Amino acid sequence: MDPVPDRLAYVDLSESEFFLSAPIPILIEDWSRVYEAVKQLQAAGITDIDRYFDEHPEAVEALRSLHAFVAANDAVLSLFEAQSREQFLAHAKDLLPANRTSNSAVLRAIFENKPACQGERTLRTFTGKTVPIVWRCSLPKSEEGYRRLHFYAFDVTQQKESNDRLQALRAEMARASRVSLFGEVSASILHEISQPLSAARASADASLRWLGRDRPEIEEAMSAIRDAARWARDATEICRKIRSFVGKTPVQSIRFPAIESVNSALFLISPEANAKEIRVESLVDPTIDVLADPVQIQQVLANLLLNGIQAIDSGPARERRLTVTVRRDGAEAVFEVRDTGPGIEADEIELLFQPFYTSKADGMGMGLPVARSIVEAHHGRIWAQSEPGAGTCFGFTLPVGAESLPA
Ligand SMILES: Nc1ncnc2c1ncn2[C@@H]1O[C@H](COP(=O)(O)OP(=O)(O)OP(=O)(O)O)[C@@H](O)[C@H]1O
Ligand SMILES: [Mg+2]
Repeated sequence: MDPVPDRLAYVDLSESEFFLSAPIPILIEDWSRVYEAVKQLQAAGITDIDRYFDEHPEAVEALRSLHAFVAANDAVLSLFEAQSREQFLAHAKDLLPANRTSNSAVLRAIFENKPACQGERTLRTFTGKTVPIVWRCSLPKSEEGYRRLHFYAFDVTQQKESNDRLQALRAEMARASRVSLFGEVSASILHEISQPLSAARASADASLRWLGRDRPEIEEAMSAIRDAARWARDATEICRKIRSFVGKTPVQSIRFPAIESVNSALFLISPEANAKEIRVESLVDPTIDVLADPVQIQQVLANLLLNGIQAIDSGPARERRLTVTVRRDGAEAVFEVRDTGPGIEADEIELLFQPFYTSKADGMGMGLPVARSIVEAHHGRIWAQSEPGAGTCFGFTLPVGAESLPA
């Protein structure tokens, strides 16, 4: 946006009807002393203002104390639920305390002679309500103009709410896509194996009838038992095919940075982790490329991460932390997902990867079996290690992309 011409900035609008009844909250603030101080910093040789604030965290507050609120329009009063202009102006400094992220946007813009700046912050109203806002301010060219800076505020509560809803929906979709995959897999298993299983049962029943006669018909019985065995073999074969289908199709291995699938899995589960107040850390070597199907690896990670979140949330964990690491080990990339949940007893570890094994009321027991099929279809291994009371670590390997290999 073009800078506001200085002529306009000088005009004192604070008493005008246009200003007072404008439908957008507008705050007029005097930043002229701040402008002066920022220019002095520049004259003293400061070239990187963010670094300066990092080294002098008190400076934001000190600079902010040089500024003054001049006027607020009616929309500001209703935004803050203030009873009068006087009440608002008397408390404006407390209602809008110095805020590094928000204030340094203005300071940086002054420093860099930008024509405008904008930022986000959360306000607290007189009744204690919090309101997320986006604000914008055009900057004048001269110091004089800084005596009347106009800040326009936009209440973004609704947008934030729909964003939160979107995040929840995304988590739900991630879950639903797993559920529908599991649903499809179980339906296909049932469909495919129910025929040979009932045929096997019919043959077994028939053989019992042949043998149960007064004069048992051994030949007939043997033939029926052979049929039963064949049907049972068919069922096993179908299970094997379905299992490889789950893992292998449609595997489209490409070379991509491991960190990408970690980030996309973290993106999927972050609403769930935030809702459960679990801190998620990722320690991923960004130079590692893997050879795999990115969507499937993201699915494996999302399953392991969701299990970790559910484990941490199932008990009184001292620390609520989930850590993803990826490191290289020879020709393999080793992924690990570590949680601070209650851990798993040694004899239970054997059972985890079996289909439909679950300890959760709404669990399906398919997360880990699917993860294992996918990893094995990529020629990798998957395992769990746990120290009951100290959390669990799930690990899996994938082949690294050729150029990732150390020379
Ligand atoms: N990080 C973990 N800590 C403790 N127990 C775990 C962990 N991950 C998995 N488990 C145990 O293994 C079981 C199987 O996990 P799996 O992901 O296969 O199924 P699920 O999470 O129960 O259901 P879903 O099909 O929705 O994923 C879980 O029910 C839980 O008992
Ligand atoms: Mg699970």
